[in-house]
Amino acid sequence: MKTWGGRFTEQIDAVFERFNNSFGIDQRLILEDIEGSAAYANALAKAGILSQEELKQIGKGLAEIKKRVEKEPEWLARQSEEDVHSFVEARLVESIGDAGFKLHTGRSRNDQVAVDTRLYLKRAIIHAQVQLKSLNRELLNLAKSHQDVVIPGYTHLRKAQPILFAHYLLAYFEMFQRDHDRLEDCFRRTDVMPLGSGALAGNGFPIDRELLRIELGFSQLTRNSLDAVSDRDYQVDFVSAASLVMVHLSRLAEDLILYSAPEFGFVELSDAVTSGSSIMPQKKNPDSLELIRGKSARVIGNLTSFLSLLKGLPLAYNKDLQEDKELLFDTLDTLTDCLLVAQVVIRTMKIDRSAASRAVQGDFMNATDLADYLVRKGLAFRRAHELVGKIVLHCESRSIQLQELSLTEYQKFSSLFGDDVFIALSLENSVGARSVAGGTAPARVAEALEQAERSLGKGGVPLG
Ligand code: ARG
Repeated sequence: MKTWGGRFTEQIDAVFERFNNSFGIDQRLILEDIEGSAAYANALAKAGILSQEELKQIGKGLAEIKKRVEKEPEWLARQSEEDVHSFVEARLVESIGDAGFKLHTGRSRNDQVAVDTRLYLKRAIIHAQVQLKSLNRELLNLAKSHQDVVIPGYTHLRKAQPILFAHYLLAYFEMFQRDHDRLEDCFRRTDVMPLGSGALAGNGFPIDRELLRIELGFSQLTRNSLDAVSDRDYQVDFVSAASLVMVHLSRLAEDLILYSAPEFGFVELSDAVTSGSSIMPQKKNPDSLELIRGKSARVIGNLTSFLSLLKGLPLAYNKDLQEDKELLFDTLDTLTDCLLVAQVVIRTMKIDRSAASRAVQGDFMNATDLADYLVRKGLAFRRAHELVGKIVLHCESRSIQLQELSLTEYQKFSSLFGDDVFIALSLENSVGARSVAGGTAPARVAEALEQAERSLGKGGVPLG
């Protein structure tokens, strides 16, 4: 059913019709469309535009469509219609007759699609937040069960200083926590009710927008009708927050791809999330993580597309805006899939303790501790740095580690060295010395784990 045939005398071109139709994409909004329509019918009745009888019929008609969608999801796949809004209206008229024609009074698909999308996105944001928390739960569980494991910390992908594996995992916990916060912010800006803005100038009937707001569960009303029908910022906020989640997931994926490679080896990925090679029988490839890393590109692309879509659009609604939903839904689906897969990877991953302890032995990762030792004996740090550099060079030429140099040899470099230098060079000291707030010392990490546990229990938006 066309919702706009009156002023047209020629048939729509078949190619253009297919091009114009968005039902294949926006049918995902059908429950929200029905919800918005039911609330709008109440507002129309309150404004005296619908009789109580008509209101009842519309309510019943909408409920029937909803029931069918829920019972028979494949029904929608068989339908073709311009968009979800025309679809619902057409089915309504089919089932209740003329009263259905009154539902669109004062309303436009422009404010309708805005309210539908906001309702849909609010739920999707909460869902994404739940997924983020679940991922953080996995990270925290893994960290808590491996509190004694030390791995190399890297800068420039070169071994730098030893760190607790739990400290490493908590770094990602922090990132996902910030992502959760960002989504909270995004929720707040999505939680604004646009219905009643009409096509662009506002509704010509005395619609009680406050009633609509309450009934549809929004916290605020949009304040400007032009903005309300053309604003997609809340979606960009979401795609932007999702892009950052994907960047974090992609970095985690990259780390774990490396750490599970034999060259590093302290992580072992489960068979459940790896796959083989069709030619090389020995291979076990980290495809799950590579796909997460790859899919981050898609979401970043969606953000770029979104910004490009909006840039240069004159006020108010333009059909370009119909392109928003594919970007939004693809972002949502990709994000959700990646968060789920990441949870499985973390849950099923094993830590090779002996590979980890081998990895933290060599490569002069305690050189900073040696310089710090000299500082504690009174030498200025810059001088200590210089001197330790020379000692490292000397050890390198003899293929030995700092802890293998004898005290006599140490004392040739500086009389400040005593036999306590070997304590300073121990792994326990290296890790334990970094005991400032936020550092990797076991006591600090134990506190951080407790803090993380507490913060997982909290959440601004009710978790569904
Ligand atoms: N399918 C459209 C969209 O998603 C709904 C709004 C259409 N409005 C219009 N005046 N053509 O943006």
